[in-house]
Amino acid sequence: MVKIAFVGKGGVGKTTVAGTTARFLAKDGYNVIGIDADPAMNLHSALGISEENVARIIPISEEKELIEQRAGGAGGIFVVNPKVDDIPAKYQVSGPDNVRLLVLGTVKKAKSGCMCPEQAFLRALLSHLILEVKDAIVIDMEAGIEHLGRGTLRYVDAMAIIIEPGRRSTELAERIKNLANELKISRLYIIGNKVATPIEEKFIKKVAKDIGVELIGMIPYDNTLRIADLNGKAPIDFAPDSPAIKEIEKIEKFFINLIESSKN
Ligand SMILES: Nc1ncnc2c1ncn2[C@@H]1O[C@H](COP(=O)(O)OP(=O)(O)O)[C@@H](O)[C@H]1O
Ligand SMILES: [Mg+2]
Repeated sequence: MVKIAFVGKGGVGKTTVAGTTARFLAKDGYNVIGIDADPAMNLHSALGISEENVARIIPISEEKELIEQRAGGAGGIFVVNPKVDDIPAKYQVSGPDNVRLLVLGTVKKAKSGCMCPEQAFLRALLSHLILEVKDAIVIDMEAGIEHLGRGTLRYVDAMAIIIEPGRRSTELAERIKNLANELKISRLYIIGNKVATPIEEKFIKKVAKDIGVELIGMIPYDNTLRIADLNGKAPIDFAPDSPAIKEIEKIEKFFINLIESSKN
C-alpha cells in the first residue's frame, strides 16, 4: 500500500484532487510518484512542476520502440513480465516537495482479455512501482476506467471516484463501482467536488448512500482554483488556505490513516 487512483467523468476535478493530494502526501514525508494516465496530460499543472521540467516530459506510451523492446509484440509474442526497473528514473520529472511525475500518455484501450504488449508493460510498471514503506503512487486517470486493462488496474490499492452534483457523473460512478467490484478493489471511495449549496451536498450524500460507497470528502465549489489555473499556478501553491484545498488536505489525511492502519 499505497497506490491511489482518482477516477470520474471529464472535468469533475480528478487532476486537481490527485495533484493536490500528491503534494500533501509529499509534505507528510512520503516519496510520491504521480502517474498521469490521462491523454490530456495535465497532472503537471496541479503538481506545480516548472515549465522547464514539463518541457522535458516524454510520455512512456509514445516510446513504441522501448515498449516493443521490453514487452515484445512482433508476431504476437510478448513478454508477460517485461523489465521496467530502470523506467521511473529515466522518464520521471521532479516538482515541488520532490513529487515525481511519470506520464503514460495515450494508452491503447485494452479489449477484454487483451494481452497486448502495451498493457503488459504498464502492468509491470505499476506492480514494480512501490517498494519502500514510504512510497505512495497517485494516479490521475482518464475519464472512465475502461482503457486500462483489468490486469493493470488490479495493482491499484484504492480508488476514489470523484463526482460533482449532477446526474451524469452519478451514472458513471455506478459503472465504476461495478467494475471495481469485479476487480475486487475493496478500498473504493467517493468524493464530492464543486459542491455549492446544501441541496447539492444532500445530493452527493444520497448518491454515495444509494450506490453503497463510503463518502470521504465534500469539496466546496471554490473559484480560487480557477483563478490559480488562469495564473498558471498549482492550486496548493496559489491558495493553500482556500476552502477546497483545506478539504483536499482532509482527504489526504484519510489516506494516511488508511496507509498506517493497513501496516498493522
Ligand atoms: N472545487 C472546485 N471548485 C471550482 N472549480 C474547480 C473545483 N475543482 C476543480 N475545478 C476546476 O474544474 C476544472 C476541471 O478540473 P480538473 O481537475 O482538470 O478535472 P478533470 O481532471 O476531472 O478533468 C478546472 O478548471 C478546475 O480548476
Ligand atoms: Mg484531468
